[in-house]
Amino acid sequence: MRGYADRALGIQPTGVRKMFDMAGDDVISFGLGEPDFQPPEVAIEAMTRAMQAGHNKYTTTAGLPALRKRIAESWASYQPGMDENNVCMTMSGTNALLNCFLALVNPGDNVLLPEPYFPLYGPDVTICGGESRYFPCLFEHEFLPQISDLEALVDENTKAILYNFPSNPTGATLNAEQRDELLDFAVRHDLWIITDEVYDRIVYSGDHISFMGTGYEQILLINSFSKTFAMTGWRIGYIMSTNLEAMAQIVKLQYIVTACSNDAMQHAVLEAFDAASDYPSIMAAEFKARRDLICERLNAMPFVSCHVPEGAFYVFPKVVVPGINSEELAIELLKGGVLCSPGSAFGRSGEGHLRFAYTICREDISRGMDKVEAVLERLRSRALESEA
Ligand SMILES: Cc1ncc(COP(=O)(O)O)c(C=O)c1O
Repeated sequence: MRGYADRALGIQPTGVRKMFDMAGDDVISFGLGEPDFQPPEVAIEAMTRAMQAGHNKYTTTAGLPALRKRIAESWASYQPGMDENNVCMTMSGTNALLNCFLALVNPGDNVLLPEPYFPLYGPDVTICGGESRYFPCLFEHEFLPQISDLEALVDENTKAILYNFPSNPTGATLNAEQRDELLDFAVRHDLWIITDEVYDRIVYSGDHISFMGTGYEQILLINSFSKTFAMTGWRIGYIMSTNLEAMAQIVKLQYIVTACSNDAMQHAVLEAFDAASDYPSIMAAEFKARRDLICERLNAMPFVSCHVPEGAFYVFPKVVVPGINSEELAIELLKGGVLCSPGSAFGRSGEGHLRFAYTICREDISRGMDKVEAVLERLRSRALESEA
């Protein structure tokens, strides 16, 4: 039999998936990176109405002009003057990411990626024949990149830097000064910036800072309604850029990859845009209460120290138990009734950490934290015994 392409063979199941496969039904799960909310009722109703009204066809490749225009307008406080030509609808952030890499990366190019990372970035670069070069975003540096690390990685074959904030898995975000440092680095080396801002509506203090509006012409922003409107299963997102030539390349690729996004869904999102404009902040307020609860609990446990995340719905505590790595620790916790992700699932820099997604109700968070505490106390007693 003829074999398979290296790009397929090279892709391994993520460490996040591995834990799910091992888990029973009775665990308290901090594993899933999706809101436990349903999409706004108006969106569900509008989707039903749109289908009944016959919006079940292909749309133009870039998507419904009215929706694209509305999205562009929603960014006017960052970047005035954009319109439908600056936006291409995609079938999710995942689809948007791949399209950006397909548009930019040739075999032989390399791309700078943050680590710990959202596990799709590396495989996306591989699919395009590129090389991933990871820059660490460590606990010791508040999970922020260091320009000196970036300078050590960049060379003449570096095509782009991807940055994600608020971050999955760390929850860290950027202030304007930190954003500008990254921007200066990219400008200095003439790099594209792929900015993954899918958690832009889940920030806990002040407004989201974006690469949009910085005036640099080599920026592709990806976003998604998965988190904004809790519609992970709908699969709808977009790419936005002030660079119309880049948008033309993106739209050509979108035609090949999915032809267009979903017709009725685009109508529904358009309606929800205004009718449910407060929905993301209602969710964010609940996530903030959960964040406070989970951080307080974790920081009181043995072996744990944890930064309070500024956005998204993940906490990425440092949990170093002598003699076991993060995957073994996650398995211990699973045996104790809690599913979370080992930090190593997000790259080497994630070792020594665990990721908890606080996408479950506060009561379950408390019950889950009781279990985590019991396991860590047991491991502490064991460590003390072996020292004695
Ligand atoms: C950082 C980041 N980017 C992109 C995505 C993709 O989201 P989706 O494909 O659901 O739009 C996710 C999903 O978890 C994510 O965490």
